[in-house]
Amino acid sequence: MRIDVLTLFPEMFEGPMNTSMLWKARDRQLLDLHLHNIRDYSRDKHRTVDDTPYGGGGGMILKADVLVPAAEDVRGDDDCPIILMSPQGRLFHHDVAVELAQHERLILLCGHYEGVDERARELVVTDEISIGDYVLTGGELAAMVVIDAVVRHIPGVLGAEGAQHRDSHADGLLEGPHYTRPAEYRGLTVPPILQSGNHGAIAKWRRQQAIRRTWQRRPELLRNAALTEEEKRYLAELAEEAAEAERKVKP
Ligand code: ADE
Repeated sequence: MRIDVLTLFPEMFEGPMNTSMLWKARDRQLLDLHLHNIRDYSRDKHRTVDDTPYGGGGGMILKADVLVPAAEDVRGDDDCPIILMSPQGRLFHHDVAVELAQHERLILLCGHYEGVDERARELVVTDEISIGDYVLTGGELAAMVVIDAVVRHIPGVLGAEGAQHRDSHADGLLEGPHYTRPAEYRGLTVPPILQSGNHGAIAKWRRQQAIRRTWQRRPELLRNAALTEEEKRYLAELAEEAAEAERKVKP
């Protein structure tokens, strides 16, 4: 997969894009990442990229006559998505990451300052993504979050056994707890079932733990999770246990 990033701060990407899974993906040529400095497309000797907003109000706006030629030059004849990172975009989550990973190429446009001239949106942007309901100083950190989450879904990136289908959110549930050696640490022991060697029982236990954790932390996710009849009964038991505990506290 090829990803092009248009940014005023390409140097921000150096650490994260050259470390761990992203570095491996690039090294194995599964991710072809290109960073472009928007300032290289400015049209004057001061390398201006922004200007004050029409109508006043303060802040600086990224200029359409810089952004549009930059995006068009990088896109070439391709009709790949040009995604503006923006707090006004559609909210990024697991399914969006999987969807974006299906493309052979993505272009991510990082806004900065107060925003971008609306005409850049109209002329070149095909999609807009927000990583959450808060405002970042620029789109760079958001672009890195999107790249990381998308690249995990490129076949081969996570190794042959690929763990992405077990990730939290992959099946609509959060993952349950994990343990590694030592079997006992400060008096806390690993659940015996994980050491039983009974793979069927372990898989069932893990699934129940995922349901339990999701119910405790993000119960709204359970509305869309595909649960078997047995799992629904387990969920009902959890609710009953909690109601019982509540009754003990407040008789
Ligand atoms: N740029 C500024 N805030 C952002 C957000 N929440 N998501 C994506 N890009 C942004």
